[in-house]
Amino acid sequence: MPRLLGILTGGGDCPGLNPAIRAAVLRAARLGYKCLGLKDGWKGMIEGASVPLGLAEVENIVGTGGTILGTSRTNPYKKEGGVEAVLANFRKLNLAAVVAMGGEDTLGVAARLNAEKKFPVVGVPKTMDNDLSSTDYTFGFDTAASVAMEAAERLKDTGRSHHRVMVLEVMGRHAGWVALYTGLAAGADAVLIPEKPYDKAALVSAVKAAHDRKGCALVVTSEAIDMGHDESEKLDEFGHMILRERGVGEKIAKTIETATGLETRAAVIGHIQRGGPPTLFDRILASRAAAAAVDFVHQNKFGLMASLRGEKIVGVPLQEASGTLKTIPSDLVELLDTFCPAGAEEASVHA
Ligand code: F6P
Repeated sequence: MPRLLGILTGGGDCPGLNPAIRAAVLRAARLGYKCLGLKDGWKGMIEGASVPLGLAEVENIVGTGGTILGTSRTNPYKKEGGVEAVLANFRKLNLAAVVAMGGEDTLGVAARLNAEKKFPVVGVPKTMDNDLSSTDYTFGFDTAASVAMEAAERLKDTGRSHHRVMVLEVMGRHAGWVALYTGLAAGADAVLIPEKPYDKAALVSAVKAAHDRKGCALVVTSEAIDMGHDESEKLDEFGHMILRERGVGEKIAKTIETATGLETRAAVIGHIQRGGPPTLFDRILASRAAAAAVDFVHQNKFGLMASLRGEKIVGVPLQEASGTLKTIPSDLVELLDTFCPAGAEEASVHA
């Protein structure tokens, strides 16, 4: 009888999950395995909730957004009897291994189960935040930042027409990758990321200088910049704050309008970034990573994540990948001084 692989997708969905599921199923079939879909991430393992996952189910999903398996932010370590239920259902479903597709939280659970219970699991890195260590990129990011870039350009059109300052708030949690790439690619006049301390005076002067020069300005801000926040904010099962509730984009817009007198509008792109068809880059990265993860299973190399390093997909320990967040390195942060100089500096750049 063919051995059975369980596949799950956990955490925030992102474009690329469906091509990854398809790739895992196709590679598994080639290596003589069958697959079973586990519903809604680790929740499906806790509840033993599964869906058929064969070639027919993945036939037409390579270009679709979301995940056909569903997802959730369920943490078995935060549920009474959660880990025991995962182990019991693994046996009951007669699985040989689990392929977990997720970000730091989903893969953090995988790493812990593997280390503490010798659970046969491998990881496929996904997250629109691009903040997973030990891999150059995660799929989902390219699509999310491309969608945000287009939104930013649309805001520029309306801002130019009304001679306004436009502020775009993007997701990305505690790393500013989405904001940085969106802002640089759309030619924003200021980009606010959690890796660079918020400097109100520099922001105001950059916006004023841009508006004086061209009659409009665009600011891209990460949802996670620190403007001083309320410690009582709600946390999810992995201990993360729900950042959109901070309303950073609106706060930045008010700050700019009050300080400059310029008419300012804020827009929040939010979950629109997470839907829609994956880009070419994300489809290929997702397909390669998922196929490699199934290869690890076949080679009995559990506890690994399929990571992009340069042009190659390699195995890295799940522990290492989920241990620390990958934030923007200083050389990339410094690029902002060239493309988005604060006002006084900008005057000399444009002199
Ligand atoms: O981690 C992905 C992400 O999209 C973050 O960028 C964002 O802060 C969070 O998920 C939003 O979570 P939810 O979909 O649960 O509102």
